[in-house]
Amino acid sequence: MKNNLFVINELRCENLQEFIGIDCIKPRLSWKIQSQLHEVKQKDYKIMVSSTKKKLIEEDYDLWDSGKITDDRSVNVEYKGETLNSRETCYWKVKVWISDYVYKESEIAYWEMGLLNKEDWQGQWIGMGKRYKQSWSPLFRKEFFVSKEVKKARIYLTGLGYYEASMNGTKIGDHVLEPAQTDYDVRVFYTTYDIASYLKKGNNAIGIMLGDGWYNQTRMWKHKVMYGNPRLLCQIEIEYEDGAKEVIFSNTSWKCSLGPIVLNHVYNGETYDSRMVQSGWNFPGFNDEEWFMTQIESKPGGALASQMMPPIKTMEFIDPVNISEPQNHVFVFDFGHNLAGWTKLTVEGVAGAEITIRYAESLSENGMINTNSCSLKNLFIPQTHRYIIKGEGKEIYEARFNYSGFRYAEVTGLTCKPDISVLKAIAVYTDLEESGEFESSNGDINKIHQMARHTITSNLQGNITDCPIREKCGWLGDAMIVSDSIMYNWNSVHFWEKFVKDIESSRKVNGQWTMVVPGKRTCGEAAPAWGTAQVTIPLLLYIFYEDKWILKDQYQAIKDWTDHLRSRCEAYLISFGIGDWWYPGGRENLDVPHDLISTAYFFQSATQTAEIAKILGFEEDYQKYTILSHKIKKAFNKRYFNKGKNSYGSQTADSFALKIKLVEESYVQKVVKALVKSIRDEGFHLTTGHIGTKYVFEVLTDFGYKEEAYKTLVQSGYPGFVYLINKGYTTLPERWEGDQDYGVPRNTGSLNHPFKCGFDAWLFSHLAGIRPLKPGFKEIMIKPTPMGDIKWIKGSFDSIYGKIRSHWRMDKGIFEIDATIPANTTAKIVLPFDSDVAIMCGENISCVKKETYTKNGGYIDVGSGVYSFKQKL
Ligand code: BGC
Repeated sequence: MKNNLFVINELRCENLQEFIGIDCIKPRLSWKIQSQLHEVKQKDYKIMVSSTKKKLIEEDYDLWDSGKITDDRSVNVEYKGETLNSRETCYWKVKVWISDYVYKESEIAYWEMGLLNKEDWQGQWIGMGKRYKQSWSPLFRKEFFVSKEVKKARIYLTGLGYYEASMNGTKIGDHVLEPAQTDYDVRVFYTTYDIASYLKKGNNAIGIMLGDGWYNQTRMWKHKVMYGNPRLLCQIEIEYEDGAKEVIFSNTSWKCSLGPIVLNHVYNGETYDSRMVQSGWNFPGFNDEEWFMTQIESKPGGALASQMMPPIKTMEFIDPVNISEPQNHVFVFDFGHNLAGWTKLTVEGVAGAEITIRYAESLSENGMINTNSCSLKNLFIPQTHRYIIKGEGKEIYEARFNYSGFRYAEVTGLTCKPDISVLKAIAVYTDLEESGEFESSNGDINKIHQMARHTITSNLQGNITDCPIREKCGWLGDAMIVSDSIMYNWNSVHFWEKFVKDIESSRKVNGQWTMVVPGKRTCGEAAPAWGTAQVTIPLLLYIFYEDKWILKDQYQAIKDWTDHLRSRCEAYLISFGIGDWWYPGGRENLDVPHDLISTAYFFQSATQTAEIAKILGFEEDYQKYTILSHKIKKAFNKRYFNKGKNSYGSQTADSFALKIKLVEESYVQKVVKALVKSIRDEGFHLTTGHIGTKYVFEVLTDFGYKEEAYKTLVQSGYPGFVYLINKGYTTLPERWEGDQDYGVPRNTGSLNHPFKCGFDAWLFSHLAGIRPLKPGFKEIMIKPTPMGDIKWIKGSFDSIYGKIRSHWRMDKGIFEIDATIPANTTAKIVLPFDSDVAIMCGENISCVKKETYTKNGGYIDVGSGVYSFKQKL
């Protein structure tokens, strides 16, 4: 055996590394193979799983020995060993053969099971009962004794709406705004933390603070959206070195009190009265005689589930770039770009003095903050944090249970001019693993990409929201249109699986698909352009992550959604719903009738349902939905196609119809021309709302009009991305006008709205040219598209098999590309210039001949490895 030819690493269980709290009994196992060699493929594998590390080392695979399996599958291999139990730690490794004689074993990894059964929970749901005061954050505490050396200690914990837990005064973990929002009548997330290092021999104390979160949200969308008063469920399990076990759990022996957060609300803000801080409340030995006894609260209706999607964390710390004083003693901090989160205030003052921080996305002409984008008609309170000083020297305050969307923070109540140490911004969002890198020689494109990323991260809040300053809601259409952009940029499989389950749970509770998920704010029946997320997002999960499980899990719901649309159509046309949102100059794009969009999504739904049926092997369903899609296509073209103009009437309709193959074959080129004409006639401007903005670029590029796509992308006039950047917007506004020139004093549209970021996927798929040909990028296409004055692009995507790179440059008449193809995958590389031009292969690719390239019709087939190609322009 040659030992240094390859390594196996990144062993993952359910796509998570060394995760505590796996809650499915047949988890999927994956590993990555890394090698400097070319054309490395897994030939066989053997998975070994033991209940202890020692057993694994001693080759006692008591949980599972898969045996040597001849298969190139290295992702999502279902565990098929002994039945897994709650709390069980599974140590595992994998042995991989890349030929009969060349093999390698991975290092040891582990996963740990969560609490799988209701019976595992001894803890009771507790709260303050009648002592609770609306919107006032309660504190809970319990002391317990640790008598011996601790071997293992876990806390299984949830608190609704939000919790922050500490052990002996130290915050447990680094998650914030936990748990992620769900429909609490269907499921409630708990988290498992390893708390061994927090414990000490002797007396210990757990302290938990609760926030209202989405569970007790009362002020927006009326009271009916509320679930109940804050409550928690906690179970601490300690295993001692001598084998003894102990469980401490939430019950009526815990005590509670109202805490210093005297107001907290997901929309309105937070007020912290530090005079009410009870020092030592979360340490052992605190005198809690005056605290109340806790009360048993009813269990939320939802089943407990381990939160396997990444938590929300404090992700970026930002110093102000400017501090102004537009009015006496009113200080405005500018953090340079728009974000979602909160601030960290450092202050000294007299007891009882109040510091008020109000957040906004823009400034008025007089330099004061402009809160117009932050208010809703039914909510006139701008996002505000209040801090009441204790008066004992330097004090630091950060919000806990509320986040705001802002670039500017207005601070009042300070007694002297602040410097930058007084207030810092903290961007808070779901901590997804980065998976995409994109950079180009064109600074504007880089800024557009960063703008899209900032907009998206601001809205990753355990849910994909429409904006962080106004509704904070998971609109299905917004989510669907941006989902592949998010998948290119971040490993988001659990994020999206959770979202898809939210769609399912919302339907369960409401008896129909809703515009918004999860929770009780539904905004009515889902329009086709919103509800088709039920079909499209699972399919994308399969394409990006080879996630067949979600297709199986959602198959009935997927079919039900398409059948539901079928039942709502008349002669295969759908008339209800809403369409392309916020086009230049207005809200609903009237050039794109909503019934056209609804019917087009009906078609997308039918074709994708057919595709999913095929993947899952349901041939009859495949036939059924394929026939349905043909009928919709016929009806759609009869109703909406203007043969005189060879168009469906708008950039959105033409590009979307082309993208989803709704155009009759004989008219495809004509519709492309109509789209190109519209782009040119408009002076390379978009006329699109959230739907068209995603598809125009991709379709123009696919049909060879990349210069039109490029000019439209870097357009500096209105409407355009660069126009917005030049106007100072750092996140994408809901409206192409941002908050300018609209003349409506309130509700100007948010300035941080991800639903126009759908185009960002195209930077990866077309400019860098990294695309999946088989699920999970098992087969890859590298098809870079030089355009405009772009001299180079560095793009990469961290797939489940490993990092795919496409770095290309053009210089002195030569196009050059370095492409990395991960082990156990293959790729087709399509060079951008005519194949008759000489291809000068890089050093390592004597295997690739010009003849192969031309013979295969324009692509080079390669196995894994690092390649470099040169081509004369
Ligand atoms: C939201 C949008 C959403 C739309 C649909 C708006 O208020 O912010 O993003 O999709 O409503 O009606």
